[in-house]
Amino acid sequence: MKIQFDETNMLAELAGDAHGISRSSIAREQPRALAALDSFRKQSEAHAQGFPHLPFQTGTIKEVRAYAESVRGSYDTVCLIGIGGSALGAWALDCGIRGPHPVQGAFSAAHPRLVILDNVDPAFTHAALASMNPKKTLAVVVAKSGSTAETVATSLIVRDWLTQALKTKAGARIAAVTSQDHGDLLELAKRENYRTFFLPGNVGGRFSVLSAVGLLPAALIGIDIRKLMRGAAAMTHVCWQPDLRENLALRAALCHWLLWTRKNKTIQVAFPYSNHLWGTAFWFRQLWAESLGKARDRGGATVHTGQTPVAALGTTDQHSQVQLYIEGPNDKVFSFWAVEKFPQTMRIPKVRLNLPAFDALAGQSLAKLIDAERRATAAAMIAAGRPNCTFTLQQVDEEHLGAFLQLMEFETAFMGELLNINAFDQEGVELGKKFTFGLMGRKGYEEYRTQFDAYEKKREAAASDA
Ligand code: PA5
Repeated sequence: MKIQFDETNMLAELAGDAHGISRSSIAREQPRALAALDSFRKQSEAHAQGFPHLPFQTGTIKEVRAYAESVRGSYDTVCLIGIGGSALGAWALDCGIRGPHPVQGAFSAAHPRLVILDNVDPAFTHAALASMNPKKTLAVVVAKSGSTAETVATSLIVRDWLTQALKTKAGARIAAVTSQDHGDLLELAKRENYRTFFLPGNVGGRFSVLSAVGLLPAALIGIDIRKLMRGAAAMTHVCWQPDLRENLALRAALCHWLLWTRKNKTIQVAFPYSNHLWGTAFWFRQLWAESLGKARDRGGATVHTGQTPVAALGTTDQHSQVQLYIEGPNDKVFSFWAVEKFPQTMRIPKVRLNLPAFDALAGQSLAKLIDAERRATAAAMIAAGRPNCTFTLQQVDEEHLGAFLQLMEFETAFMGELLNINAFDQEGVELGKKFTFGLMGRKGYEEYRTQFDAYEKKREAAASDA
């Protein structure tokens, strides 16, 4: 497994003094980074945070593989019902290994596909059900809380759809991933005999891709989860190293922290030059946003901190976003995600057409072109004083993807420590959820309905004033 992190283009020598960081500032802040490492290590050792332990949970890997083996061949579609951290990891794995849509290979019982029902868009849900055969579908309901409105609603629709086709056998076609000790999904799963997997209480949704949350759907669509975990385990060792040269996650966190807090780079663009990593970019967006966007630090002081993550795809978004990135506000840091080896290089036919634009590329390869475009964009950014860095994966396979996901989780955890915030809660999303429950008439949420009605009245008054 080979993953590298290159911060050279974040340095002042390249990006300029106003927008780059100095080697001396990295050296000066090294003790702060080591303190962050130490603090997070203590939390991990005390099992307050569980994601670093996931790659070593051989019991879960065995259990998931045995289940996948027992149902193999009986379905051509895995329908995942979950949202946020309960869906994005599976998408990253599916896109990374089975391939990006719409160019995934044809699906069959030997090569099942993944359909993720996260959003409650009724037209999308209807179309998704119409595209699946209930007799060839295995449903996986994922919710740590067991009560997320979107997941609960869609799971009832899918349960009903399966029951209409399979009658009393529907329960055998539903697996649940949830908390071991609480939640309505757990209760329903017990009542209806769903095969149930648990995610540890000390693993938050967005850090759960390497628990049963991501592993179960991955194994069911044929991804080798042992290789995935092997890569993640190797990266975990790297991420505990006290030497910044070796510890990619800690070095990346420190460089990003310096650019964010000293050079005001309040936006990070995750810029994979690989369609296979596009799902991972969206997974990362949630990880970085929910973990680091916080109102208060650990001491209770109001900080309203956060670095907005943006996903851009190379080379596609060179023709959509890069104009803004190079000439717009210099408030961003760019993280290129490069791939060293593609499974196919796609040679461009060697023809001579006496047309300069065509003749220049004939006989070369798409692998060379995408690499040249990424390096050219990095150079153009430097010419405009825009700091950037590059993560390079030797290739996109299970081992590298597992390692890269773990690397990003460690970087996020270290960044939380550097900012002295709790990277593992998400208080900011709670009120919206409560208003939704109030609006949908859930018992116990009447006061939120009242609060919501007061807000609506205020809106009406403001609108009529205009
Ligand atoms: O990271 C998180 O904790 C959240 O994004 C959750 O994953 C998301 O809200 C879904 O929660 P649940 O798994 O309880 O349905």
